[in-house]
Amino acid sequence: MRRVTFTQYLVEQERKRKTVPAELRLLLEVIARACKAISHAVGKGELADVLGAAGTDNVQGEAQKKLDVISNEVLVEANSWGGSLAAMASEEMEEPYQIPNEYPKGRYLLLFDPLDGSSNIDVNVSIGTIFSILECPPDVTEPDESSFLQPGARQVAAGFAVYGPSTVMVLTVGHGTVGFTLDREVGTWVLTQPRIEIPVSTKEFAINTSNARNWPAPVRRYIDECVAGKDGPLGKDFNMRWVASMVADVYRILTRGGIFMYPADAKHKEGRLRLLYEANPMAFIVEQAGGAASTGTQRILDVQPGKLHQRIGVILGSSEEVRRVEGYYAQAG
Ligand code: F6P
Ligand code: MN
Repeated sequence: MRRVTFTQYLVEQERKRKTVPAELRLLLEVIARACKAISHAVGKGELADVLGAAGTDNVQGEAQKKLDVISNEVLVEANSWGGSLAAMASEEMEEPYQIPNEYPKGRYLLLFDPLDGSSNIDVNVSIGTIFSILECPPDVTEPDESSFLQPGARQVAAGFAVYGPSTVMVLTVGHGTVGFTLDREVGTWVLTQPRIEIPVSTKEFAINTSNARNWPAPVRRYIDECVAGKDGPLGKDFNMRWVASMVADVYRILTRGGIFMYPADAKHKEGRLRLLYEANPMAFIVEQAGGAASTGTQRILDVQPGKLHQRIGVILGSSEEVRRVEGYYAQAG
């Protein structure tokens, strides 16, 4: 079997479609290498003393784990010197990170959630890294928060790694969604899913039901109908899965379909997940795989961000079910 590596995939995309210029390829390769280093640290676990609390809080007031801090450092250091970036922003850093003066600046902006699924770090359940790449607005030489506030539809690339039983990387550069698996001994990412397509219909939903009392009416109605199964209006039995690592839940949906929901509700008034580090990259990846991603009332990729660490309601996955839930929102007014 011909093994297509990460680099070869990117080179071929540039040849075929002119979508991955050398500067973007270098950036993606550096990110992939950083994810390899994070995967290694995650895999060592207790042996490398990387588990447990870091003793600090992030900008959202959440207690940071050691691996949150390590992963953030790995990504920041790896991406400082390459010359592709104008600036970067991380879920774990309050302000955008400026490229040190000793290095040249490039045309892209990188955003990331260095370690997604924090509650699963210490319990040996899959976690991951999510990233999004935008172009720096023209004529901006000192990017600040406002430079990053672009709708997700402007992303030039997005991806995520899952540190699970195997380490995988999902990527889109705007022409479909593909997946790579890390060959740990050789140290290369091998193209293992050349064309990811989310089935349009599904019988599997993912939502944290402990929030049920806070849900808006359309979400309550939809989940009630899923639970009613064959006897209800949907006429089919549903199954439920909730890993509580968005990377793992979305990877499952990319693999066999499903609907994932973390809606805005009475407790999480703006939603729980971050627009720029989680919702936008995942929405881009899901749409490129033939799925849909919505807030309930709007396509996620069309949302104009108002601030860097903004949260948002997320409903994504198999298009039939996402459209159904959007329909319930529309009916509820
Ligand atoms: O990053 C936020 C996150 O950890 C996601 O990965 C995950 O989908 C969600 O939070 C889980 O939230 P909860 O702990 O409320 O189930
Ligand atoms: Mn996260």
